[in-house]
Amino acid sequence: MKLSGVERKPPFQLYGIFGDPLRHTLSPRMQEAAFRKFGISAFYLPFEMDLRNFRKIMKHLPSLILDGFNVTVPHKENVIPFLDKVSAEASVIGAVNTVFRRGRKWMGENTDACGFLRSLKEEAKFSIKGKRALVLGAGGSARAVLYALCSQGAESVTVVNRNLLRAQTIVRHFGSVFSKVKLQFSALAGFDFRSSLELVDLLVQTTSIGLKSGDHSLIKKNEIPRAQGKHRLLVVDLIYKPAQTELLRIAKARGHRTLNGAGMLIFQGAKAFETWTGKKAPISEMRKALGTVLID
Ligand SMILES: NC(=O)c1ccc[n+]([C@@H]2O[C@H](COP(=O)([O-])OP(=O)(O)OC[C@H]3O[C@@H](n4cnc5c(N)ncnc54)[C@H](OP(=O)(O)O)[C@@H]3O)[C@@H](O)[C@H]2O)c1
Repeated sequence: MKLSGVERKPPFQLYGIFGDPLRHTLSPRMQEAAFRKFGISAFYLPFEMDLRNFRKIMKHLPSLILDGFNVTVPHKENVIPFLDKVSAEASVIGAVNTVFRRGRKWMGENTDACGFLRSLKEEAKFSIKGKRALVLGAGGSARAVLYALCSQGAESVTVVNRNLLRAQTIVRHFGSVFSKVKLQFSALAGFDFRSSLELVDLLVQTTSIGLKSGDHSLIKKNEIPRAQGKHRLLVVDLIYKPAQTELLRIAKARGHRTLNGAGMLIFQGAKAFETWTGKKAPISEMRKALGTVLID
């Protein structure tokens, strides 16, 4: 990845994704489809590595021939000290998932929040302004979701997490940035979902529970009130494989609208592609490239 001898530009662009594990990443097929659509000669490769090796490579960022890259778990925070500048959004979220060059400088941004919002708007026709939301989980993806909800004028957001301290930390952080949004937190154990879900418009499931076959939803069927009259929730699960988690299945059975994480995945990738190339991302090609992978 490093230029040696005479400085010469290769006849292709090189992009990639850093993370660990990356066995199941869908980004290469999605991004390469987008490059193909524009006839751009580019590779997009998975670079799976632990923190030690990631730091070793990032130290040499200025001399790498990469044109841009994505960063995923667990390096989204680790990459920040190696960058010349981080966007305001990524800095509030505390994580970078897209890195690009501006001249000799390496810049970081976060496209997860934007991907989530675009999926809500375009796929679920849902506007967050003035709405009340409940977010399950307080990890990296919850931070992007919270940014999206708060920056778009949600009325209130409650964060429920297994680890109470983590929920408290994220709520305090976003509360200090978005003072108009009513932010609350609670521990998962003993949380009264039934009453709380009667008072909100949106439920976003951001934990990793549901990824593995046999995972049971953290919210049980009898804790989800039936949709009644005008009160119909939008239930979003950031997981995209399986396409329908148990939570989405039972929420649907209770009469609520549901959305999985496929749209967020595609739209965050689209924003990264646009940042790198300056071209409008070919959403349908990117979606087509994921094809049956997203269908169970
Ligand atoms: N659609 C997309 O584009 C997209 C983007 C990003 C992430 N995701 C998905 O979002 C999920 C979470 O990713 P992340 O980056 O936020 O992960 P993360 O930072 O590791 O956070 C994991 C979250 O899951 C919770 N959790 C884990 N095991 C649990 C259990 N047994 N019981 C209750 N809670 C548990 C954690 O709670 P504690 O704090 O208590 O440990 C934490 O809130 C993954 O499934 C990922 O695939 C999707």
